[in-house]
Amino acid sequence: MTARAMRVPASWENRMRYLGAASLIAVLAIGLSVSTAIASGDPVKGKRVAKKCTACHTMNKGGKNRLGPSLYGIVNQPAAAVPGYRYSKAMKASGVVWTEPALSAFFAKPKKFMKGTKMSFRGIKSAQQRADLIAYLKTLGDTAPAAANHGDPTKGKVAAVEHCAVCHSFEAGGKLVFGPNLFDTHGKPAARDSDYDYSDALKSAGLVWTDANLTEFMANPEQFLKGTKARFPGVKDANTRADIAAYLRTLK
Ligand code: HEC
Ligand code: HEC
Repeated sequence: MTARAMRVPASWENRMRYLGAASLIAVLAIGLSVSTAIASGDPVKGKRVAKKCTACHTMNKGGKNRLGPSLYGIVNQPAAAVPGYRYSKAMKASGVVWTEPALSAFFAKPKKFMKGTKMSFRGIKSAQQRADLIAYLKTLGDTAPAAANHGDPTKGKVAAVEHCAVCHSFEAGGKLVFGPNLFDTHGKPAARDSDYDYSDALKSAGLVWTDANLTEFMANPEQFLKGTKARFPGVKDANTRADIAAYLRTLK
């Protein structure tokens, strides 16, 4: 797309007279969508590529960990988040979230992308095969009602002030109220703020905060995690929970 967009026509000046800035933007946008189409993969072909992985990974829901962790729901999940699997130190400390570009870079050359990973796999040279594989991986995972509703972060900010701000601050370095500061919590392991004295329940929960478990937690904290110090009645409305999760996601 860069090459296309950069190739400015010689008659640029003339064109500008006829095309408003708005149509110029439309032209660039078409260029962008074309490049996205090229980069997107074919999940059916991807399933074939995934045969390279199944010696070490299961991909079905509830699949067991083998030499590597189960890959069900891996796309957009933080690294090292599969329960019951012993990851390398490198993977645990990586702070990676498995977005599509991160997965593609990892699959190209695992040990180059992450020094110290214990995944012994040479990599997949073809960018198209990697895109196909990722398209397939995206088909694996739960579309929980809360996950299907991506939430509106602007509404979520308003709702967070109403429901959460008595106990939490949200800005980077914000003060501790009754609960921990919630800046950069989404996508990160639970109980990571070293200035805050968490309950043993949360410290030992081994959770990574995702849309799914945040919305579950917000619905009823004590039911979600027995022994948590977070005591509030919970947010009843599922859309409001999704909005708050979407807001938390923006705090990076
Ligand atoms: C020889 C065994 C082996 C093969 C083949 C293999 N993997 Fe892995 N994979 C592992 C191991 C072991 C880990 C854990 C790495 C660590 O902890 O550093 C891992 C980790 C991963 C992770 C990170 C998971 C997480 O929870 O953070 C992804 C994603 C992944 N593999 C995808 C793939 C895909 C896709 C393929 C096929 C193209 C593949 N792997 C092939 C052994 C393998
Ligand atoms: C009455 C006070 C109170 C209210 C209201 C409250 N929380 Fe909390 N929250 C806490 C406490 C206390 C903890 C620490 C829990 C523990 O250690 O078990 C906590 C922990 C959390 C955590 C875990 C943070 C981490 O570092 O792992 C998240 C996420 C969270 N709250 C989100 C929310 C959201 C979102 C709302 C609003 C919908 C909310 N809380 C409302 C008191 C509250």
